[in-house]
Amino acid sequence: MFEILQKEKLAEKIWMMKVKAPRVAKICEPGEFIIVRIDEKGERVPLTICDYDRNAGTVTIVFQEVGASTTRMKDLREGEGFADFVGPLGKPSDLIREDEEELKKKKILFVAGGVGTAPVYPQVKWLREKGIDADVIIGARNKDLLILEDEMREIAGDHLYVCTDDASYGMKGPVTAVIDELVENRGKKYDLCVAIGPMIMMKFTCLTTKKYDIPTVVSMNPIMVDGTGMCGACRLIVDGKVKFACVDGPEFDGHKVDFDAAMKRQQQYKTEEGRAMLKLAEGDTHHGGCGNCGGDR
Ligand code: NAD
Ligand code: FES
Repeated sequence: MFEILQKEKLAEKIWMMKVKAPRVAKICEPGEFIIVRIDEKGERVPLTICDYDRNAGTVTIVFQEVGASTTRMKDLREGEGFADFVGPLGKPSDLIREDEEELKKKKILFVAGGVGTAPVYPQVKWLREKGIDADVIIGARNKDLLILEDEMREIAGDHLYVCTDDASYGMKGPVTAVIDELVENRGKKYDLCVAIGPMIMMKFTCLTTKKYDIPTVVSMNPIMVDGTGMCGACRLIVDGKVKFACVDGPEFDGHKVDFDAAMKRQQQYKTEEGRAMLKLAEGDTHHGGCGNCGGDR
């Protein structure tokens, strides 16, 4: 069992858990994710790693109650735990492979939407530990849904810009309005943008950064089943080619991701009829995972 050492409600329906998982904590890197299961029959839930402590052997996850599994997860108490805590999965963020001196020359902008603030946090923290400052935008629908503001301010300081859609806190508007404000009115120039949040937010962030010619990396979190590239559930189209978020990502060049196809697939995947349509539409490149064609059995 992977014990929950600490549990905290960050906002309405958003929970943070610190989990004892020494093997994952020892080797995980920013950008990677894990898959948890409450018990042997439980659904596999993929979650991006929010923080880790190699000495304490803990990994911090943040999740939103959206369905049966995450609602069951939030009912777990400190001292209880997960049957499976598999990872780290996916590829680490490209940033951590870059030459440190080159990174120091770059102006980087992080854009976090809602729960996507959690996976942005370890990347900003990793840079700060190397003495590299980056600008960070956190967007939430309203003040009550804002998460990890204090933690982010501790590492980003004056480089943090908070915005709410309803103007209940910080700057007004969605994250894209703040990008416009920083670039157009405050003369900011960026060499790279990293955007993580709901797909629709990443789509519009990419449209905005494209206007300013800012290369943009996004972290995709489509439906996942096995997390090993076998089931095909997390299929995406990137630069016209089929990719699987769990093994080829989760980070991709946002200007090359077909977000409309990804969002449509996310919807279709929810029904049996939709999954049957996907099997038809994807032909030879559909390699199971839909729970319908048998390819995942
Ligand atoms: P949300 O809908 O509350 O949006 C958060 C912020 O994103 C908004 O306040 C706004 O600033 C921005 N945004 C949203 N739509 C936008 C648009 N059309 N144009 C410009 N900006 C826009 O977000 P939420 O409810 O916290 O998000 C939950 C979703 O995020 C879930 O679907 C979850 O799967 C996903 N998520 C993704 C990742 C990831 O790795 N990509 C990580 C965690 C959560
Ligand atoms: Fe990516 Fe199965 S979750 S291929």
